[in-house]
Amino acid sequence: MSNSPFLSSCTADTIRDAAAALRAGHLVAFPTETVYGLGADARNPTAVKRIYEVKGRPSDHPLIVHISSINQLGKWASEIPDYAITLGRNFWPGPMTLILKRTDMAEDFITGAQDTVGLRVPSDPIALALIQEFEKISNSAIAAPSANRFGQVSPTSSSDVYEELGEFLANSDIVLNGGNSSIGIESTIIDCTGSFPTILRPGYVTKEEIYLKLGIQCEESSTQSPIRFSGSFEKHYAPNCKVILGEFVLNGAGLLALEEVETPENMIRLGSPKTLEDFARVLYSTFRRADRQGLASIVVHPPKDIGIGVAIIERLKKAEQGR
Ligand code: TXA
Ligand code: MG
Repeated sequence: MSNSPFLSSCTADTIRDAAAALRAGHLVAFPTETVYGLGADARNPTAVKRIYEVKGRPSDHPLIVHISSINQLGKWASEIPDYAITLGRNFWPGPMTLILKRTDMAEDFITGAQDTVGLRVPSDPIALALIQEFEKISNSAIAAPSANRFGQVSPTSSSDVYEELGEFLANSDIVLNGGNSSIGIESTIIDCTGSFPTILRPGYVTKEEIYLKLGIQCEESSTQSPIRFSGSFEKHYAPNCKVILGEFVLNGAGLLALEEVETPENMIRLGSPKTLEDFARVLYSTFRRADRQGLASIVVHPPKDIGIGVAIIERLKKAEQGR
């Protein structure tokens, strides 16, 4: 796999080449601190169309536009409330996506024809370098969903991306190799189009942290939300094996549980995270390991429902419904 023409380790030269490939309308998968993204020029409808084809994703499902700094916000978003600026100043670069009213820069093919756009400044240094380089040579930014087939588990390494999408990518596309994603689950998505912020998808940046740090109270989304966001489809984040959430003993099943939990006889220990942060980091790679080992099911002991545990449980519940 390391001989694949798609996979490049990241030097200043490869980042420049990757930015040029985006400019030429090709796709570039790149690491972020959350999960790997499948990037295209956010102003190029043909390139963006390929993202949907490669992912097998319905085209009305909007994409996050990745920008290099909060200074780019006004280019893509309008009617930005003060609390959104405060959120951006305090949590960017980082694992947070803000949904805002769009400007003409974000066209229907990015937003799924909604009048809002999702924006994020990732903190991963390779992601930031790529976005900066691309912004330098274009008047654009990088549209990128997670680099997995629709409904599948998000990739947290370049080899995961290759496994998911290799057969659908073209020779001129690139997968940048930046090691393992440090957070491991997708960004917190916050709707900033109302008079107060609403969390649409929980993530590493939590409601509690936002309140403690900034005194800003976020609502949590109701499932009736009129806007389309991740996980609004039943099947999501799902491996091929069956995910069973709870402290069950099941012969021959895989097991993911905190380190202190002992492995029952005849279960196959796949992961032993020490903390909630570890749990998030290993979650998707553990799902992939279960599939690679051909297991029929994986039992996951749910983590505590606090901090990033909320986001982990949300993903686990969706994965449980998955198959
Ligand atoms: O951490 C992340 O957010 C990763 C990395 C690559 O940045 N990206 C990611 O993208 O998870 P994706 O497309 O797999 O999930 C983003 C979700 C989508 O389900 C999409 O529906 C939602 O964000 N979204 C994007 N723009 C939106 C908008 N204008 N309104 C509501 N939801 C939006
Ligand atoms: Mg996704």
